[in-house]
Amino acid sequence: MLIGIDLGTSTCKVIAVNGSGEVVAKQSRDYRMINTRPGWAEQDPAEWWRATDEAISALTASLPESGQEVTGIGLCGQMHGLTALDAADEPLRHAILWNDQRAAPQCDWITERAGGLDELLRMTRNRMLPGFTGGKIVWFRENEPELFARTARILNPKDYLRLRMTGVHATDVSDASGTGLFDVARRCWSEELLQLLDIDRALLPDVVESTARTGHVLPELAARWNVPEGTPVFGGGGDAVIQTTAMGLVDAGPVGFTLGTAGIVAGGAASCPDNPGGRVQVSCGNAPGRWHVMGVSLSAGGALQWLRDALAPATTTDPVSFEQLVRLAKEVEPGCNGLLFLPYLLGERSPHVAPEATAAWVGLTPMHHIGHMARSVMEGVLLNMREILEVCRQAGLECERVVASGGATSGSLWLQLLADVLDREAVTVTGSSEGGAYGAALAAGVGTGQWRDFDEALAGVKVERTFVPQQATAQEYDRIFQTHRRLYDELKPVYALAR
Ligand code: XUL
Repeated sequence: MLIGIDLGTSTCKVIAVNGSGEVVAKQSRDYRMINTRPGWAEQDPAEWWRATDEAISALTASLPESGQEVTGIGLCGQMHGLTALDAADEPLRHAILWNDQRAAPQCDWITERAGGLDELLRMTRNRMLPGFTGGKIVWFRENEPELFARTARILNPKDYLRLRMTGVHATDVSDASGTGLFDVARRCWSEELLQLLDIDRALLPDVVESTARTGHVLPELAARWNVPEGTPVFGGGGDAVIQTTAMGLVDAGPVGFTLGTAGIVAGGAASCPDNPGGRVQVSCGNAPGRWHVMGVSLSAGGALQWLRDALAPATTTDPVSFEQLVRLAKEVEPGCNGLLFLPYLLGERSPHVAPEATAAWVGLTPMHHIGHMARSVMEGVLLNMREILEVCRQAGLECERVVASGGATSGSLWLQLLADVLDREAVTVTGSSEGGAYGAALAAGVGTGQWRDFDEALAGVKVERTFVPQQATAQEYDRIFQTHRRLYDELKPVYALAR
């Protein structure tokens, strides 16, 4: 039995996976986001640990042998976060998260220090995006120098859990890629960039492959969770990368569309892509000798959630549900009678690197009602993801097939729209609903030798539902896409004025 842990942005989810790759038990615990200023997003590492500890205790208690059958633990979690620890491994401040935008000026400074974007891409294969850990380190050094002077280690979120579980400072190649300080092609820290930025290598953890053993559960925890003493903990991965792996997308070919709070377009690659212009995120893959390409839109399911929440005060009884919104959206014609939505509620990372962008409706008239608004939000999110797919394809990602996952794929409208907007068959597969936690468990299973490699571990992943594009609708979306893709450039001068 394997345990997979996913330290998400709002919830820690833990699952137990048996020898046949089936999920047999799950638990989750929530924690809060701390937003003290616009654009800032933090969390308390102590709350991550409390949630994880409670969830694992409840999970093992529910297993047939109460946890004694556990052979390995895999970790995954939200990427790009900064957890600063003192010499006694105590957090010095709240962790700064992936969706925190404060370090945009520091990212510009880093690019300049590197000798320009092309030089930075040569060293790391990635642009230093505002969410990435590297910019946050520089922000921390500039703005909280006393705390920075006391910092002995900087870890990504899931690796803080590893430290609490095993006493070891380590990360895996996919999460390290998301710091922006990692030489993704060579799968090691970029000593060259660290030197240029005057960041001490000793602050950063050792890096291992996702399937490598990093340590063992500490004896007092093994006793509390009732898992065998010495249970190994494996490298695991950054959530966005390892959930692509869990969808069976280790190699080039199919492309994954994850419709969670954010929208992720991602796929595997057999060699490290060049990423000209830095328009995509390139990471090491979870399988040794593989890479991962993705474009991340900050608002996908999150945009519909915003609409639902925005409507809440207007209703006198219960807030409108997602089911109601989707039902109303279904009744509206494709194209919403000319209503278009740009989903940049939180700024955007892809297809445009645009922290300054905001969301917009274009074409709103008195004939539009809430059903049009809901459907236009869904269409706008997916048209935006079609643009991201184009960017990923320019970076070498093939797109033979589309595999969808994420919370928004539980119903059918999002999936049918995805097939129509892309004019491609879209499928869901087993295990994909468990996301990163499933990938983390598989990484642990490959690490323990239960499976030879990810290909063997993923052999049980089967297509569950298939959505076929409808010809006329797909043609209509193709027409609308040509207008949609012009909107960002047209609105760009307005964003500058509106600030
Ligand atoms: C990936 C990314 C998000 C976070 C939070 O680049 O920013 O997927 O990892 O889930």
